[in-house]
Amino acid sequence: MTTTTNSPTSLLSPESAAVIRATAGVVADHAEQITARFYPRMFGAHPELLRVFNKGNQATGEQSRALAASVVAYAVHLIDPDAPPFDHVLRRIAFKHVSLGIRPEQYTIVGHHLLGAVAEVLGEAVTPDVASAWDEVYWLFATQLVAEEARLYQRAGMDPAQPVRPYRVVRRIDEAHDIISLVLEPDDGESLPEIEPGQYVSVFVDLPDGSRQPRQYTVSSTASGTRLQITVNRLRGVDGAPDGQVSSFLHDSVAIGDVLDVSAPAGDFVVESSDEPLLLATAGAGITTVLPIVEHIARTQPQRPVIVAHADRTAQDHALRDTVLHVGRQIDDFTSHTWYESVDPSDQRSAQGWMDLTALPLPQDVSVFTCGPLPFMRHVRAQLLARGVPAERIRYEVFGPDLWAQNPPE
Ligand SMILES: Cc1cc2nc3c(=O)[nH]c(=O)nc-3n(C[C@H](O)[C@H](O)[C@H](O)COP(=O)(O)OP(=O)(O)OC[C@H]3O[C@@H](n4cnc5c(N)ncnc54)[C@H](O)[C@@H]3O)c2cc1C
Ligand code: HEM
Repeated sequence: MTTTTNSPTSLLSPESAAVIRATAGVVADHAEQITARFYPRMFGAHPELLRVFNKGNQATGEQSRALAASVVAYAVHLIDPDAPPFDHVLRRIAFKHVSLGIRPEQYTIVGHHLLGAVAEVLGEAVTPDVASAWDEVYWLFATQLVAEEARLYQRAGMDPAQPVRPYRVVRRIDEAHDIISLVLEPDDGESLPEIEPGQYVSVFVDLPDGSRQPRQYTVSSTASGTRLQITVNRLRGVDGAPDGQVSSFLHDSVAIGDVLDVSAPAGDFVVESSDEPLLLATAGAGITTVLPIVEHIARTQPQRPVIVAHADRTAQDHALRDTVLHVGRQIDDFTSHTWYESVDPSDQRSAQGWMDLTALPLPQDVSVFTCGPLPFMRHVRAQLLARGVPAERIRYEVFGPDLWAQNPPE
């Protein structure tokens, strides 16, 4: 009698498992070369896909690295029962795909060009057995993603062919230096979708050069119940790199009355309704995740303790500070700490320098949500681990392709 198990190793045929074991290392070593060939191949054959892929992430190579790392990590998880859990990686990718309207039939296109790029880069090493084993890995991954995405589309009541709805800009608020909020109202007569605090939307814009580009923005407030707010940091290019395309466009060219194409809310950086005290540790634009969480706790669990800790360059760069403090007053046990690289002499409330959590009073069972640049989140995580906060209590959000998830830090 045959028995089946849920172990990931059982998903892969034994022949392919042996080939993957023998070749995972060489594929990992060439992963970036493979994805560097993959994108030009695919965009050459399907230029329409340039309208859903983020040009900035293509230019910096971050998306290539995230795709390569995820495929290799998935393969390793199939052959190694002790590999780190993969569910959260899969969910993150699925949410991102759903916010962009990725459809099952597009997996054939990606698979064709990805496996073609493997053959191009590894040449004769790709025997028919090797090609067939990696094809199997790709399609196992694709099948799981398609299934998860189907669930998410269904839950959001979305047709993947129509991933966006029109939203009218009804307010524009100058929040801080180079940071604005745009308050958006559905323009199709339908109500606001259900939004969990911490989720993001993809905003698609038609740029002056005729291209169309999506970017993700955290829903920074849903306080009104009929409108959602996004808060956008204008990205300035450094060391000769160009300014951010979409954030500059939203700052310079979007006015009250304009209509933007906005996806359904996505993402699993969300606070569940337990009683655990929360520490929200953020830096820079990561503050956009704090306000919706504080609003949610104030509305639904005002007895739940919340500590907000935020780091920024200066007070002038710190967006949403007053609003967070104002809403925080409705929470019974709410404390706020700030660190600035440069503190105004008249500011008695903020500390100078990097966020320092070593002496911050922390409740025993604190749950941590951190969002900001990767070096900042590494710093926060290291300090909290040193204080005995278990790794599984530290959740994070990366404002770009997640290069952290597949290589979890120690
Ligand atoms: C889940 C999630 C939530 C997010 N939430 C928010 C939010 O709430 N608020 C917010 O402000 N942002 C948020 N972001 C980030 C946002 O999606 C965009 O990445 C950000 O606005 C920058 O987009 P851009 O088009 O302006 O920059 P891009 O044009 O994409 O440029 C990005 C970077 O790439 C560099 N670059 C571009 N082209 C080149 C080149 N040819 N050579 C070298 N470097 C280059 C640019 O200089 C810039 O540093 C979030 C991202 C994610 C994934
Ligand atoms: C098994 C197949 C696939 C894998 C393993 C995969 C993997 C990934 C990963 C790791 C990311 C980055 C997620 C993050 O933000 O952290 C991503 C984003 C993305 N994927 Fe996929 N993907 C697959 C199939 C597809 C398909 C079929 C399409 C459709 C053409 C697609 C389009 C995109 C786009 C447009 C993004 C966002 C890119 C960006 O913001 O730079 N993917 N994918």
